[in-house]
Amino acid sequence: MKITFIAADGTETAVDAAEGESIMRAAVRNDVDGIIGECGGSMMCATCHCYVDEAWADATGQQEDGESDLLDCAASEVRPTSRLSCQIRMSAELEGVVIHLPESQL
Ligand code: FES
Repeated sequence: MKITFIAADGTETAVDAAEGESIMRAAVRNDVDGIIGECGGSMMCATCHCYVDEAWADATGQQEDGESDLLDCAASEVRPTSRLSCQIRMSAELEGVVIHLPESQL
């Protein structure tokens, strides 16, 4: 299933993700600049911070418990659509999801 990442400079990168794979994993596996995922998805780093495109905000759901605390440590501005991309798993409803990347993760 397809995920489109849009970097802060507008560069778009489309990748294929497997069902159940997190958006962070799909980004790292495809060498997408802008997602680091330092802790491997265990909600300890915030280097997988992303902005879900407004049109996809409902489909990706709300932040998980503890996400907002960790997002306070994110390097870039936190917005209403901020999520930890390791906490969003791909499913049929997210086919074609659009994810914006923050300017910096560190
Ligand atoms: S990869 Fe570390 S919090 Fe998401």
